[in-house]
Amino acid sequence: MTDHAQRPHHFAPGIRPPSLLLLHGTGGTERDLLPLAGRIAPEAPVLSPRGTVLEHGMARYFHRKAIGVFDLEDLHRRTTEMAGFLQWAEGTYEAPADQWVALGYSNGANMAASLLLSGIPLAGAILLRPMVPFRPRELPRLGGMPVLILSSNQDPYVPGELAIELANLLEKAGAIVERFAVPTGHGLGPDDTEVPRDWLRRHFPAL
Ligand code: MLT
Repeated sequence: MTDHAQRPHHFAPGIRPPSLLLLHGTGGTERDLLPLAGRIAPEAPVLSPRGTVLEHGMARYFHRKAIGVFDLEDLHRRTTEMAGFLQWAEGTYEAPADQWVALGYSNGANMAASLLLSGIPLAGAILLRPMVPFRPRELPRLGGMPVLILSSNQDPYVPGELAIELANLLEKAGAIVERFAVPTGHGLGPDDTEVPRDWLRRHFPAL
């Protein structure tokens, strides 16, 4: 059995929902997205688990066979493990597992998309430079879940059409998807603060 308490993570209770589940990119840590979260929603509770897979010493959320080629068996196992971590956090921090808005970058965005496509209940998701993590045989029912995708046509790691395919898959599953093209390639820029901040205010007016 996985001991979720052993996973390196950062939790801050915050004072105002929505709560943000931060998922970093390859080689990151649980602290990487804290400044971005602070700019987007400074008063939000945050939960930031570190990826438990190491690729040449770099933390990730699941194994890959090559850049953009995922080990799907491992992806499914780690996605289930992440859902278990959210359940553990609910018991430990009294933070309801289905109330998180995922804020994921790159490999973290792919883990967030995998949670969504696996039907793990979340309140919403902000996906920065995601791909299609896997193509489910049966789509989950996302019943109006808001999802924001920020992708770039100049991204050397993620072909633009994959973000479009992901948006289509999520829409077919019932999510309300907004997709926004940024000029900064795979790297983050000012749009990655401003667009999510505006999107959160529109979809989660408690902010
Ligand atoms: C991935 O492996 O999830 C994607 O290629 C993004 C990355 O981590 O570079």
